[in-house]
Amino acid sequence: MKQDTLLAQAGARRDPVTGAIAMSICPSAAFQHPALGQSTGFDYSRTGNPTRQALEQTMAALEGGARAAAFASGLAAVDAVMRLFSPGDAILVTEDMYGGTYRLFEQFYKNYGLRFVCADTSDTTRVSDILDRRKFKGLFVELPTNPLLKVADLKALGDLAKKHGLLFIVDNTFLTPVFCRPLDLGADIAVYSATKYLGGHNDLVAGLAVARDAALGERLAHIQNAVGAILGPFESWLLLRSLKTLSLRLKKHEENALATAGFLKEHKAVHNLRYPGLPTDPGHALLAAQSRGHGAIISFETSSRAEAERILASVRVFLFAESLGASESLITYPIVQTHADIPPDMRERSGLTDRLLRLSIGLEDKSDLIDDLSRVLG
Ligand SMILES: Cc1ncc(COP(=O)(O)O)c(C=O)c1O
Repeated sequence: MKQDTLLAQAGARRDPVTGAIAMSICPSAAFQHPALGQSTGFDYSRTGNPTRQALEQTMAALEGGARAAAFASGLAAVDAVMRLFSPGDAILVTEDMYGGTYRLFEQFYKNYGLRFVCADTSDTTRVSDILDRRKFKGLFVELPTNPLLKVADLKALGDLAKKHGLLFIVDNTFLTPVFCRPLDLGADIAVYSATKYLGGHNDLVAGLAVARDAALGERLAHIQNAVGAILGPFESWLLLRSLKTLSLRLKKHEENALATAGFLKEHKAVHNLRYPGLPTDPGHALLAAQSRGHGAIISFETSSRAEAERILASVRVFLFAESLGASESLITYPIVQTHADIPPDMRERSGLTDRLLRLSIGLEDKSDLIDDLSRVLG
């Protein structure tokens, strides 16, 4: 089935008793066994729950993967994926990634013997050189990066991962499977903060991991059950409900983002504008070759920290908050909010300055967004 059909009918089924179409919320923690040694397919909700299973099956189908697992947050999904590695394993990771992912790697997984090397994964030659020099077990890439929106070549990285026998993980939060399907391009696992576009309404926190092959999917389900950071039935239902409009929402997000970036591009107070949807952006062509859309996250620099602070205090339509991917447009100050745990020298090296602002373009009327920015930028 095509993605739009899968989305429109996310969780829809025919209840054998009532004929109900909408997926119901199944809060049961335990399920009765028909007899000793028999199961309905559900025994205990941490292991499997009907509402969560409907979400996981929808997500696996959307992504073209063998199996999906739903978690209590995006970071819980990343955490589950990291448990596939063993002490001593080295993992090459995108250098400007979400600060919380960096914190999880540096402050927790390092203590358990995993080693992380950060690199600009939009530079395939550099990645190839690093992989030639040292033995790695994994490659973890964000596409595009948060917040600098650099674009990696997933196909080329997938080939390198195959050559070096790496587990290739892509955080596809910004694009979703509607725009880009990392598993088709060589990734083994796609991970998501479903709190963002998949949820889309700023009213739930959730994460997903989708495995390309069944054996890997089985290992993820085992970790999900053993560690227990599952998504609850209510959030699973809410997420299924949100998925029905994902494709429609993304179209509007992108239309608004393109108009907003077009306005910002011409503004004299805006520096280093980054939006891969603009044909002038260095990542535009590469992203277009591997994604059906460019997303709706924009970042740019102001002239000074004071100016950035003034803008944050002056917006009226944009909300000053730290998330992205929902109906409301948000403005974020990455250095203080989402990326505070990245060490200053690393931030400086990758261009994450105290002048940088990130916009998540929502579903409002685009003229209101542009008017708000025009007023605050002067
Ligand atoms: C790209 C990316 N990955 C992962 C996460 C973590 O997700 P969550 O906040 O749902 O735990 C975020 C959160 O902002 C993110 O932006």
